[in-house]
Amino acid sequence: IDIKSLRAATNGLITLDSGYKNTGSCESAITFLDGEKGILRYRGYSIEELAEKADFLEVAYLLIFGELPTSDQLNKFHTDIMNNSMVDEDVHKILDAFPKNAHPMGVLTSLTSGLIAFNPSSVNVDSEEEMYRAIVKILGQFPVLVAWVMRKKKGLPLNYGSKKLGYVDNMMKMMFEVPIEEYKMNHIVRDALDKLLILHADHEQNCSTSTVRIVGSSHAGLFASLSAGISALWGPLHGGANQAVLEMLEAIKADGGDTKKYMAKAKDKSDPFRLMGFGHRVYKNFDPRARIIKVAADEVLNDLGIKDPILDIAKGLEKEALEDQYFVDRKLYPNVDFYSGIIYRAMGIPVEMFTVMFALGRLPGWIAQWREMRLRKEPIGRPRQLYIGETERKFKAISDR
Ligand code: ACO
Repeated sequence: IDIKSLRAATNGLITLDSGYKNTGSCESAITFLDGEKGILRYRGYSIEELAEKADFLEVAYLLIFGELPTSDQLNKFHTDIMNNSMVDEDVHKILDAFPKNAHPMGVLTSLTSGLIAFNPSSVNVDSEEEMYRAIVKILGQFPVLVAWVMRKKKGLPLNYGSKKLGYVDNMMKMMFEVPIEEYKMNHIVRDALDKLLILHADHEQNCSTSTVRIVGSSHAGLFASLSAGISALWGPLHGGANQAVLEMLEAIKADGGDTKKYMAKAKDKSDPFRLMGFGHRVYKNFDPRARIIKVAADEVLNDLGIKDPILDIAKGLEKEALEDQYFVDRKLYPNVDFYSGIIYRAMGIPVEMFTVMFALGRLPGWIAQWREMRLRKEPIGRPRQLYIGETERKFKAISDR
């Protein structure tokens, strides 16, 4: 049956699926996710193997172009990105105009769409070559924005990267270079950051990725689509959960560390409180990313000689939830955001920057999904609705209302 006859036969029948819990919005060859078995694969490679053996830029290449790069391909990709990493000086002025206490996610989304003004050729991209140019530009400039946003938050002078460094090392240089003398950078911290970015790099049709695809489906440019994705990620039910988790753990600590009290609050339906960092729309047994991050959190804190009491609170909450009928029945387990903030904090990243770090990791996934959507020539995204409002009414003049 062809689509026209199907439409005619169903007479405009609409599927209502709030939150798109069972609705596929596209076909995709990028990320495979089995929520029951806790499997996550990028382009067929398991997340466990990639987190252990690959570096972030290799994974970015894999997600965007579909294959692991050869060393020549990776070198070229890195060079192209670095050659596009100069952010226009006027972007400084825009950044300066934001108040210091502005939330970094708000600043990042504004600066990302602001980049369009400085790179107008990034907007109408149809060919693969034009797409490639826009992709290496944003991969080059986005980390600079992230570093600048963080340094502004910390009251530090803005800083530039070095083309000679690898993608993640350069990121660390821009973010942490002296005068943070007390910062003890070492390979465990660098590897942990690399791992965190890989683990966040894609996650099929989540809220922010669907946003990027739907905005891009109107042929708005890549940077505009990404800026919309950043806004979607900000919410505490999505990427904003990593900040919310740390604030929750701090609140529990300040309240005497009584985890049972917060478990009870989370279960109380008259209380809007939720255990942040718990639950996932798709994972119903465990989140494979959370398992890897939990181990990394132990390693990083041990290596830096940090004894963070909130790590113990987090582990205590996880243990209690695993034995609690409410959480077991609803299949609520720690998600990717539960332990990541503990690592970010140990690295000296301010809590309001946590979701920005998530965005940095998710950037290649958003790009890959946008590119796939454009190359497949997907139609504009345009869901329908079931109208439940008033039927037809006659207009009343304002004097008669
Ligand atoms: N704490 C307490 N109860 C919860 C939690 C939680 N964290 N998460 C879900 N529940 C309960 C709901 O109250 C609901 O209970 P009910 O069936 O008795 O009404 C049931 O579990 C199902 O929850 P839904 O909200 O319907 O599940 P949904 O798939 O729509 O939401 C979500 C998933 C948004 C992740 C949710 O679990 C949540 O709000 N978690 C906390 C925020 C969070 O950690 N978000 C990050 C997710 S990962 C990411 O986006 C990167």
